[in-house]
Amino acid sequence: MEVEPSAAAAVFGERLELARRYVELLATEGVIRGLIGPREPDRLWSRHVLNSAVLAEMVPDGAVVVDIGSGAGLPGIPLVLAHPTCRVVLVEPLARRVQFLTEVVEELGLDRCTVIRGRADEVIDACGGADVVTSRAVAPLAKLATWSAPLLRLGGELMALKGSSAAEEIDRDRSAVGRTGIADLRVRTVGLDIVDPPTLVVHGRMERVAQGRRGAGRGTRRP
Ligand SMILES: C[S@@+](CC[C@H](N)C(=O)[O-])C[C@H]1O[C@@H](n2cnc3c(N)ncnc32)[C@H](O)[C@@H]1O
Repeated sequence: MEVEPSAAAAVFGERLELARRYVELLATEGVIRGLIGPREPDRLWSRHVLNSAVLAEMVPDGAVVVDIGSGAGLPGIPLVLAHPTCRVVLVEPLARRVQFLTEVVEELGLDRCTVIRGRADEVIDACGGADVVTSRAVAPLAKLATWSAPLLRLGGELMALKGSSAAEEIDRDRSAVGRTGIADLRVRTVGLDIVDPPTLVVHGRMERVAQGRRGAGRGTRRP
């Protein structure tokens, strides 16, 4: 398993022990249950956990964050561990992933984190009106925007972790994303001194509710 990078202490602060336990759970139960590939333990800290945690520098204080397609908890669990005040709702449709997420949240005592089973389009009533919607390795940008926009409040922020395709995805999908009401798309780079390569985030802001959107104008419930 990858040796803990020295940056982890600064990123997680007083929650470093919890981050260590999360990495251990990913490397053991996560692999046994097929949620994490067998080669991933060699790069769990750098490629997965720290790569996700550095998103914390973009998330406003006290934000309610909905993480769609959380899988084994990425980026939502590292985010809630690295951020002092945000609340995170982990949204995941697959039962065995939800079971793992529920166990992790309970074992680590993550009281700012909840788990909801469902696809993004099925959880609008339960967790619409979010300040931030995150995702990582879930879908192409246009589809992600279609799933994320109904979960965002006006002024809320899309934060989609992407690889080197981030800028190309914006060029390709800008007009489709615009139709969802999310505008001002740009690539933000975070974690420059912490992870190599740094994390690329497609950022956009919910500027208007798309016409005919189901649930438009409702959805400011807090989890
Ligand atoms: C490749 S995995 C990525 C998991 C995690 N975000 C990560 O970075 O490791 C994609 C995840 O998206 C979930 N997913 C697929 N379609 C979805 C939808 N419509 N709404 C929410 N989650 C979805 C899948 O069940 C799966 O857990």
